[in-house]
Amino acid sequence: MSQSAVTGRVAVVTGGIGGLGTEICRHLARQNRQVIAVDLAVRNERIAAFRDDVADLDGAVTFEAVDVSDFDSCQALASRIEQQHGRIDILVNAAGITRDASLRKMTPQHWHELMRVNLDGVFNMCRNVIEGMTSRGFGRIVNLSSVNGQTGQFGQTNYSAAKAGVHGFSMALARETARKGVTVNTVSPGYCDTPMVAAVSDEIRAGIIAEIPVGRLGSPADIARAVGFLGADDAGYITGINLPVNGGYFMSF
Ligand code: CAA
Repeated sequence: MSQSAVTGRVAVVTGGIGGLGTEICRHLARQNRQVIAVDLAVRNERIAAFRDDVADLDGAVTFEAVDVSDFDSCQALASRIEQQHGRIDILVNAAGITRDASLRKMTPQHWHELMRVNLDGVFNMCRNVIEGMTSRGFGRIVNLSSVNGQTGQFGQTNYSAAKAGVHGFSMALARETARKGVTVNTVSPGYCDTPMVAAVSDEIRAGIIAEIPVGRLGSPADIARAVGFLGADDAGYITGINLPVNGGYFMSF
């Protein structure tokens, strides 16, 4: 794809160089979006690997180092992108961390670190793009929750609370922006083939895979496809939903 072919919407993906984020960026770029991947200024090798990973997309994906838990940095990022690209049309909040521990072992640090990224990060980014989207009359926000926000998981009181909170946030914001052309939806991945899930002990992970009806971990592409669907221009009548992508691990009405 040449640079001139990128004439479509401008998309920002937080957690953009992470396990799911990289594939989400690639998928949106293939849909002709100009994509800005936002992530921590982590070790240079990881950023270099990301740049290699998206090199075939000819400049459709660029990287910005920002900590989503910092409101002022998110504000500066949003103004920078709006100045450079004229607008932000699509925001995907995929930045997330785990700090797994049973509650009796969980420290306030485990709790607060996770909340600052997984929940404050969603507020910090949405708060700083929402005026632009509503004033232009178009926006697609997709927030990444988790099956563990729907079911709860042993060792994840912090993560399950934050991820359930993400969908509450999406529903409330969806109501506030529905008449302004801005949709706000949640995608809830199940257990996927990412470093985050690889960090779970082999025994626990094997037990989880055994309970997934599809019989395998999800792939990042499975999640990216759902994000791309909700981020499309013609998805304007879908708002406030939670789209689970979990291989049947948790089914609900
Ligand atoms: N279910 C039921 N009981 C469990 C259990 C489980 N999943 N895990 C541990 N226990 C039991 C142990 O058998 C033990 O019982 P006894 O006291 O009777 O011997 C007791 O609980 C141990 O409790 P501890 O507080 O000591 O727990 P621990 O330190 O051994 O393990 C843990 C805690 C590391 C968090 C572990 O439970 C674990 O890894 N849980 C899974 C966490 C998980 O799935 N994380 C997902 C990460 S990926 C992700 O989050 C992406 C996404 O969106 C899906």
